[in-house]
Amino acid sequence: MRKKVTVVGGGFVGSTAAQRIVDRELADVVLTDILDGPPAGKGLDMLESGPITRSDSQALGISTVNGDYSATANSDVVVVTCGFPRKPGMSRDDLLKANYDVVKGVVEQIVKHSPNCVLVVVTNPLDAMAQTAFKVSKFPKNRVIGMAGVLDSARMSAFVAMECKVSVENVHSFVLGGHGDDMVPLPRYSTVAGIPLPDLLPKERIDAIVERTRKGGAEIVNLLKTGSAYYAPSAAAVEMVEAILKDKQKILPCAVYLEGEYGIKGLFVGVPVKLGVKGVEEIIQIKLTPEENAALQKSANSVKELVTVLGLW
Ligand code: LAC
Repeated sequence: MRKKVTVVGGGFVGSTAAQRIVDRELADVVLTDILDGPPAGKGLDMLESGPITRSDSQALGISTVNGDYSATANSDVVVVTCGFPRKPGMSRDDLLKANYDVVKGVVEQIVKHSPNCVLVVVTNPLDAMAQTAFKVSKFPKNRVIGMAGVLDSARMSAFVAMECKVSVENVHSFVLGGHGDDMVPLPRYSTVAGIPLPDLLPKERIDAIVERTRKGGAEIVNLLKTGSAYYAPSAAAVEMVEAILKDKQKILPCAVYLEGEYGIKGLFVGVPVKLGVKGVEEIIQIKLTPEENAALQKSANSVKELVTVLGLW
């Protein structure tokens, strides 16, 4: 039997993620939105692409405006993308309270129908929304994972590949911390064909890449004018979904609930984890310099401020 993935939120991130899953025949997909009509249209349109892309994945779009989530039942993975997107000039954190209510309402419904799923949270502000989903779902911590590090690392890799004029396949980047302006790109652990960045590029070029990575989301928001990025975010979410569905034991930077790892307790913060069928199979602890650690703690403190506002701390 094919696996089943529900994607909550039929906006650009959600529908692009659904399309990527269907195109690659990773699972059957249910795409939900509170709008009446568009999700059904998108689902049918995706289904009709199957004969061309040679995918037998089923795609179904449903409206949940009436509160009926029964079509999502028994999903293996649920990707939560619903919420308000960032607008130019708006920080991820401005979205906090509005999206808290959205994510809370959705997760309450989702867990009733898919009590054994792995939740992949994409809604911003990412770390705080993952913490919201964790609290509301009452799931064990291994089954609630926030998507951010994969996206931020992909952006860093794209910039490194441009700078070094090499294939993106040669580049491996590591970005830890919260998905905010004080995220922690780690040049020492970022490599081109195995060579650490500090051995390849002058400090000022690395600093420029780090800065552009930190502001990568805002760069896209400013260009798009309406809405925020979706191609790279959806690709990042689907890399996580694939690792879970295929039990790949793949190490990716994700926002997970820390209980003392990296000296952080009771917070969702981005760190390297191994993803497999159980969700988070292992939290990988890498050695950080005092400066890197200070940056991670600062980023964790920003997450703590948000979840304190939400009463989740
Ligand atoms: C970004 C937004 C979605 O990083 O947080 O593109």
